Amino acid sequence: MALKSEDIGKIRNAEISDIERVVEIANSSLTEYYTTNLMMDLYHSWRDAFMVYTLNDRIIGFIAGGKFSRTEARILLLAVEEKFRHLGIGKALMNDFIDLCRMHNIMSIRLEVRTDNTEAIHFYQKYGFSTISTIRAYYSDSSDAYLMWKLI
Ligand code: ACO
Repeated sequence: MALKSEDIGKIRNAEISDIERVVEIANSSLTEYYTTNLMMDLYHSWRDAFMVYTLNDRIIGFIAGGKFSRTEARILLLAVEEKFRHLGIGKALMNDFIDLCRMHNIMSIRLEVRTDNTEAIHFYQKYGFSTISTIRAYYSDSSDAYLMWKLI
C-alpha cells in the first residue's frame, strides 16, 4: 500500500479509548494472545511510552515501552498493521520512543523478539540493537526469544 499525499500520519500518546484497537493490532501481528486487561497494565506501567501512530485518525501501529531499571528501558510491544508495513511507521515510532528515553536519562534499551521473527530482527538490527543472549522457551508455545540491547 502506498500513502497518498493527502494522508496525515501522526504519533500521539495512547488513550484508554485506544486500547481495544491496539489489542486488535497486537493480536493480528504478534503470535502471543493479548487481552485488554494485559494491554491496560502495559498502558499504566509507563503511559508516556505507550504511543500510537494514526493515519487519518485511524490507529495503524503502536509501541509500548516500559522501564527495566532507572537507566534502562524496554520495548514491550511494537507492531504495525500488516498492509502499512515498510512505509517507515515502525521507524517513526522507534525514533519517538528513543527521544522519550533520552528525555528520561535512559541509557539503554532492551527487548525480546522471537528467534524466527526475521523481519523484526532485521528492523532492530537496523537500529543498532545487538543480540545479547537467547532466552529458551520464552513464549507460550515454548519458542525461544533473542534478548536484544542497544545503548542510546
Ligand atoms: N526486512 C529487512 N529490513 C526491514 C524489514 C524487513 N522485512 N522491515 C523493516 N526493515 C528495516 C528497513 O531497513 C527499514 O529501513 P528503510 O525504510 O530505510 O529501508 C527500517 O527497518 C524501518 O522500516 P519501517 O518501514 O519503519 O518498519 P515497519 O513500519 O514495517 O515496522 C515492524 C517494523 C514493527 C517490525 C513490523 O514489521 C511489524 O509490525 N511486524 C509484526 C509485529 C512484530 O513482529 N513486532 C516486533 C515484535 S518484538 C517486540 O514487540 C518487542
